[in-house]
Amino acid sequence: MKGVFITIEGPDGAGKTTQIQGVTAFLQEKNIPFLSTREPGGDAIGTKIRELLLDPANGDMTPKTEAFLYAADRAQHVEQVILPALRKGVWVICDRFVDSQLAYQGAGRQLGQEDFLLPLNKLATDGLEPDVTFLLLVEAEEGLARVTETRGDSPDRMEREKIEFHERVCDGYRALAAENPERIVTLNGRNPIEEIQREIRNRLKPFLEK
Ligand SMILES: Nc1ncnc2c1ncn2[C@@H]1O[C@H](COP(=O)(O)OP(=O)(O)O)[C@@H](O)[C@H]1O
Ligand SMILES: [Mg+2]
Repeated sequence: MKGVFITIEGPDGAGKTTQIQGVTAFLQEKNIPFLSTREPGGDAIGTKIRELLLDPANGDMTPKTEAFLYAADRAQHVEQVILPALRKGVWVICDRFVDSQLAYQGAGRQLGQEDFLLPLNKLATDGLEPDVTFLLLVEAEEGLARVTETRGDSPDRMEREKIEFHERVCDGYRALAAENPERIVTLNGRNPIEEIQREIRNRLKPFLEK
């Protein structure tokens, strides 16, 4: 495995898409081959799974079904997109990965981690873990406000969840950061965009030297 695997995490509206744009510009400047992708929906099959997951009409979806669908998308994405790229030496930057599942289905939906989500994701990813994860944190309410402010279309099935759900997700992310200090770089999503980007680039420098 030669490429570097970077993931970006955080609640809706934390600034993931914004920061990924900066990272791809940085990698371009450095002439590093990269692939920018996302979950759910990293390939054609994943896009169909994404539609199922985010369609507000699917309000009856059970938490377990939701977890299996995210994991199915991830299995497809890892095998078909992420691993082939990394093996070729291409860096992969992924908007959401296993940490999203632990925060949203673990903390948010309160599904078991040890007995369910961790084994499920180990199967889905074949044990692949990011080299580094950038976690952007804002309060749930602020993130949602940013999302509603900027988008024209109506909120998706996850965004429609009540605020308590989104607060549990944020707590879940904070717990993950505390448990994985080596891998997860926590960034204050309320800082200016350029300041956050500077910190991300600094953290990527050691990987450039390898
Ligand atoms: N650090 C920041 N400070 C203030 N606003 C931000 C910041 N980062 C992103 N935004 C704005 O918040 C909104 C959501 O950002 P986005 O990158 O789409 O978040 P995400 O992909 O995490 O949902 C956008 O309008 C974006 O311009
Ligand atoms: Mg986004």
